[in-house]
Amino acid sequence: MNIFCFIGSMQGKNSTTLKYTKQLIDSLPSRGNNVDVFTAESLNILPCMGCNSCFATGICPQDNKDDMKMIKEKIKKCDLLIIGSPVYIHQISGSTKVFIDRLAHWSHLFPLTGKLAVVCTSTSTSGEEYVTSYLKKVVSAFGCICIDSLVINDLMLEEDINRNIMQLAEKVDKAYKNPKSLRGNVFQNGLYSSMYNQLSKHRQGYEYNYWLKNGLLDFYTFDSFLTYTLNKV
Ligand SMILES: Cc1cc2nc3c(=O)[nH]c(=O)nc-3n(C[C@H](O)[C@H](O)[C@H](O)COP(=O)(O)O)c2cc1C
Repeated sequence: MNIFCFIGSMQGKNSTTLKYTKQLIDSLPSRGNNVDVFTAESLNILPCMGCNSCFATGICPQDNKDDMKMIKEKIKKCDLLIIGSPVYIHQISGSTKVFIDRLAHWSHLFPLTGKLAVVCTSTSTSGEEYVTSYLKKVVSAFGCICIDSLVINDLMLEEDINRNIMQLAEKVDKAYKNPKSLRGNVFQNGLYSSMYNQLSKHRQGYEYNYWLKNGLLDFYTFDSFLTYTLNKV
């Protein structure tokens, strides 16, 4: 299993989110040697300039100036995408948002369809529900099947954290071994249908051409495109 993990914490080695996400990765029975784990402080990620070039052409001018080109290539090759963020004022951290904004156009293209995802967060006491629900939405919009979330807070006992990590690792492993049983969620199917309807009406532009070229326009629902993608592999 190829794994790509981004942790949006500037704490690097001292990050709590990193510590437990690494424990999850180490607990995965199908984990191979191809594991990339990055924390925000180890990467150069410039902010989105809001130019809309990615939506219009698929190209981000910032990609030639920082690490995002390398990151996008690695994500496209992974089987499991993990995004982790500390809770900052009941939301994801700024570093996590900068990372996600730079991938924004993927939310119209479903380029990660069929890949598994897990979202992770750590907090002192509160706000984890906003972070996990937002991160789940983001990875779903990219096409991933989000298996579940890992949540850590300062009030949890180490034995409970260890048990949750083991259970989540088993769930991920099961999904990895039985990919044909995977289904999209309600949000994902709704987003896909709305994009499908818009693009089949306008029939022009970068996004239309991407959908056409990659076979998405042959499938009216995300689940049917997912089944097609999984059977291709
Ligand atoms: C700017 C900032 C905002 C925070 N906001 C919250 C919060 O809203 N609720 C909470 O319980 N903890 C909050 N915390 C605590 C962190 O979520 C917690 O320490 C987390 O485990 C840090 O993860 P990290 O070590 O991976 O960076 C905040 C910490 C910082 C630095």
